[in-house]
Amino acid sequence: MQSVFLPKDINGNIVHAHGGQILFQDGYYYLIGENRTNRVKVSCWRTKDFRSWEFRGHLLTLDSKVECREGWAPELEIPGEETTLGHGCNIERPKILYNQKTGRYVMWMHWERPADYREARCAVAVSDRLDGEYTYLGSFNPLGHMSRDCTLFQEENGDAYFISAARDNHDLHIYKLTEDYLGIERLVQVLWPGELREAPTVFKKDEIYYMLTSGCTGWTPNQSSWACADSIEGSWSQRHNFGDETTFHSQPTWVLPITDAHTGEKRYWYFADRWGGSGEKYYQSQYVMLPIHFGKDQSISIQWQDEIDLGI
Ligand code: GAL
Repeated sequence: MQSVFLPKDINGNIVHAHGGQILFQDGYYYLIGENRTNRVKVSCWRTKDFRSWEFRGHLLTLDSKVECREGWAPELEIPGEETTLGHGCNIERPKILYNQKTGRYVMWMHWERPADYREARCAVAVSDRLDGEYTYLGSFNPLGHMSRDCTLFQEENGDAYFISAARDNHDLHIYKLTEDYLGIERLVQVLWPGELREAPTVFKKDEIYYMLTSGCTGWTPNQSSWACADSIEGSWSQRHNFGDETTFHSQPTWVLPITDAHTGEKRYWYFADRWGGSGEKYYQSQYVMLPIHFGKDQSISIQWQDEIDLGI
């Protein structure tokens, strides 16, 4: 398949799930991400082969059930406020983790008013099913901090972390989540202060933790970087360039491990957005997938290729 794609599903609808993640469950790859059409915020499709896509549902919409937690803000729309994109408040970069202890799926995302990015909040929603309807719990500033581009990371022992851009994107924060994943327990790290990192995504290979981030140039692509650590709460390496000066015209959003059905080798796939731009151009945003190469000294890289073989 092509390394850049924007598929239609089996009903002929465009698969809009941007700034998202891909989770493997019950033999399917579930793609979850931003959908800004009509009153939708987050949608889910699944596929076995990345060719045939089945729509599974709108997980969060402006009409989702709201059960606001104390001290959080319930709004998903602010009537009368002009939007720059879609309808209602901006919901960006949704990511979901399954909580073994509560048996619930927990979604964390970036929340903004319709008209601007001033508030810089995170928001949380929960569901009993990965692709079910989510109940919105509200938005807030984690420990009072600004919070924009974000991701989640889960340890094998169930510990989970929320990673987000703070201080007007100048710093990157790592927060440990509470046991139920519904709140922030503590701030664990302030990474690369003043270096303006966005689009964080964390994955682990063998015993090494890797983090990809982009620079901060809105919808325009820029040079991404990688860093690594022995533990998420330990000390992170310096950043190193990842891809070319526009990261092959893409911005990271997730890394997906796939075991190659032919060779049995576990490969790690860079999954990214090639944003169409602001306004209506946003709906032309495509997905980019490239294999991550692991070099000596824990280094990682991607190279451009038009065609990819996921080995599934
Ligand atoms: C990007 C960010 C996107 C979105 C966009 C808005 O840098 O990664 O998630 O917030 O800016 O301009």
